[in-house]
Amino acid sequence: MQRPSPLDHKEQSQRDQIHGRQVAAMFGRIARWYDFLNHALSLGLDIYWRWRLARVALPRPGGVALDLAAGTMDVSVALTRQYPDVRVLAVDYTLPMLAQGKGKIAGALSERILPVQGDGRNLPLPDESVDAATIAFGIRNIRPRMAAHREVLRCLKPGGRFCILEFGTGRRKVWGGLYNFYLNSVLPAFGRLVSGDRAAYRYLAETIREFPDERQLARELVDAGYARVFHVAMLSGIVYLHVAEKAGGMPGKGFGEAAGETSGEAADEASQVVVGNSAAAPAEPDGSDELLRCFTPQDPGKGPEDE
Ligand SMILES: C[S@@+](CC[C@H](N)C(=O)[O-])C[C@H]1O[C@@H](n2cnc3c(N)ncnc32)[C@H](O)[C@@H]1O
Repeated sequence: MQRPSPLDHKEQSQRDQIHGRQVAAMFGRIARWYDFLNHALSLGLDIYWRWRLARVALPRPGGVALDLAAGTMDVSVALTRQYPDVRVLAVDYTLPMLAQGKGKIAGALSERILPVQGDGRNLPLPDESVDAATIAFGIRNIRPRMAAHREVLRCLKPGGRFCILEFGTGRRKVWGGLYNFYLNSVLPAFGRLVSGDRAAYRYLAETIREFPDERQLARELVDAGYARVFHVAMLSGIVYLHVAEKAGGMPGKGFGEAAGETSGEAADEASQVVVGNSAAAPAEPDGSDELLRCFTPQDPGKGPEDE
């Protein structure tokens, strides 16, 4: 394979910078419509998805969680609700998005959620300074994604989790193509009608289409250096929860527990575990849990769906 020349690399990095500025400008334009459109377009399901995301993060009691691409801070608030003694650093590139969410953290929450304007590719944080990290519907917007994966890994304490909530790839047909029609036609039209910004909601559909599928993303996270990765599909794979764990830390964060199974709440779809190439021993999947099966990243083509 041909290696990219230094010039290609420079050009790509300039393109990524321009893309970052365009994304920030776009979210700045739609910030005031963002929450309304989120809830309306998902029929309120987004609230549950964010709750599930917060639930798998498992920061240490009294610790600090990073909510990257925090936007209007719904995930930050969900984290403080589920972990009453955890503080949250809400980092986002776009100031108007954070400003739009400020009302949610007035009063007591202002002591626990700190909004910070920052770039996920270059976090203003020391190494191993956060106990857990989340990103909801944000990783799709960051280029290159690998820079964010690595930057979060750097900031996580050993054993900490990077939990990603994201749409599944829009290239796969869901519900006989009904979802794909919704994504490509209904969503941009409705988004334009409400926010007046056709480009923003077309961009949303495009980035969902281009997003890697769950196995490619798992591979990326393992390549970035995470010790183990798993994902849970929700709503027929329209949305995924991906969890990537840094090596080290205390044993006992069972994958099953994180996926919600041990508390009696079944994962919506088969969840899969990818064991990374770190020296850390993977946790034993709960034997009672039929949903949870392992496959190795060396053989990403063979997952439970293929059996
Ligand atoms: C779709 S919104 C998600 C907001 C929020 N997490 C939620 O659940 O609603 C995507 C956010 O990613 C932010 N973003 C894009 N690129 C970023 C980057 N490089 N660093 C930090 N935030 C970024 C945007 O500003 C935007 O607020």
